[in-house]
Amino acid sequence: MFFMPGGHKDHGLPHNPFKSLVAPRPIGWITTLDEAGVINLAPYSFFNAVSDQPPIVFFAPNGPTRRDGVKDSQANAKATGEFVCNIVSLDLKDAMNATSAPVGPEVDESQLAGLEMIPSKIVAPPRVAASPVHLECKTMQTLELPCTTEGMSNFVVFGEVVGIHIDESVINDKGLVDVTRYKPLARLGYMDYSAVTEVFSLKRPE
Ligand SMILES: Cc1cc2nc3c(=O)[nH]c(=O)nc-3n(C[C@H](O)[C@H](O)[C@H](O)COP(=O)(O)O)c2cc1C
Repeated sequence: MFFMPGGHKDHGLPHNPFKSLVAPRPIGWITTLDEAGVINLAPYSFFNAVSDQPPIVFFAPNGPTRRDGVKDSQANAKATGEFVCNIVSLDLKDAMNATSAPVGPEVDESQLAGLEMIPSKIVAPPRVAASPVHLECKTMQTLELPCTTEGMSNFVVFGEVVGIHIDESVINDKGLVDVTRYKPLARLGYMDYSAVTEVFSLKRPE
């Protein structure tokens, strides 16, 4: 089949397949603080790393706008200049999902999900204690991208990773991170998810 996105239901399928095609997508579980110090925690699967010198990650808030036009994570990351990306292990899937509830900025989603939070080392937003990996980030830049649907918006928030925490239990005896020890959760399309449970290596051509 072939379709050109942009027309309403032009794919002829019951659901838009786009997000099931660019998959799996890692999930950035973003902690921020608002200016009053209230914790905000939300998952973003339009999330990835874009560079490693320095390490830079992004998350992309989009969809129906809230709070003066932007989602809480974006508003806080811009106002305070900081966020933390917690990596979601398979066993945190339900807690992660609970923190995606569309609640107001006064609600601390980490409490909704019953999660213990621990202090970061460099930035003020705290970390999800149970996450095996945390990336402490300083907000670098927010881009607004065109959006084709009225009442919705598309943004990308970039952050420089200034501190990295790795739980010792996921580092093997060769000093390598073994992702199969925590099984990072990834988003597919529809309501589907996947987790990394197997790894193989390939050598690049000389
Ligand atoms: C697995 C998962 C991935 C999500 N990815 C995104 C995303 O990439 N962009 C987005 O705007 N919302 C995404 N959402 C929805 C947000 O988490 C949700 O809108 C949340 O309420 C935003 O919270 P905030 O306003 O506190 O930032 C995702 C939800 C789930 C469960």
